[in-house]
Amino acid sequence: MFLNKITTSAVALAAFAIASSPIRAAAAMTPGIKVCYTEGATSQNLTVEHIEYAADYLRYRWRRNIGKAASFYILPKGLSRVEWSIDIADPMSVIVMGEQVNASIASATSLLDIANAIDGGKDASEDKKKAALIGCGEHGGQMAVLLNETHKWYNSRVFKNHDAWPYTCIVKLVRNNEYRV
Ligand SMILES: *[C@@H]1O[C@H](CO)[C@@H](O)[C@H](O)[C@H]1NC(C)=O
Ligand SMILES: *[C@@H]1O[C@H](CO)[C@@H](O)[C@H](O)[C@H]1NC(C)=O
Ligand SMILES: *[C@@H]1O[C@H](CO)[C@@H](O)[C@H](O)[C@H]1NC(C)=O
Repeated sequence: MFLNKITTSAVALAAFAIASSPIRAAAAMTPGIKVCYTEGATSQNLTVEHIEYAADYLRYRWRRNIGKAASFYILPKGLSRVEWSIDIADPMSVIVMGEQVNASIASATSLLDIANAIDGGKDASEDKKKAALIGCGEHGGQMAVLLNETHKWYNSRVFKNHDAWPYTCIVKLVRNNEYRV
């Protein structure tokens, strides 16, 4: 079954999850509003080009998998506010983490909406970039992803056949401690 598969791969990813993300359980987060890791958190010293790459890569994964479960980032239900890294090939200095918001459901967030939270959208205006996570620059930051539920894949059969709901997750850009220049 789909969920078993997801759970298994999520557990494999958990080993890769970094121990300390700067802010956990930001309960009051409004989707689309970013928090930068500047005040009350440690700057993550990210390379901005690597943030751009992460968003491009997620958009690419989404495009390659439209109509399939793999175009979503899915967090299984039942665990309390889990967070795992979102798979990106050769992530360099940046790890993208996804934290569950509602533990009572398996939540699915499209990789496109996650990419848009990171860079403001493909060919975004300067204002949109500033409002996105990339607007935090090298410091990194976090944001509850704003879903575009008018997108037809949130209503697609492949999605409804699976025991998961369109739901936001909190995306965090944090330092990859394995990265060496
Ligand atoms: C980023 O650099 C500052 C200054 O060197 C350091 O205090 C901080 O711990 C670094 N952050 C991370 C996540 O390594
Ligand atoms: C979590 O999701 C369930 C099912 O959609 C919903 O009934 C509940 O209100 C949600 N809880 C929060 C805190 O959003
Ligand atoms: C949301 O999705 C619809 C349908 O694909 C699209 O036309 C619209 O531009 C999207 N909205 C945003 C804010 O990206």
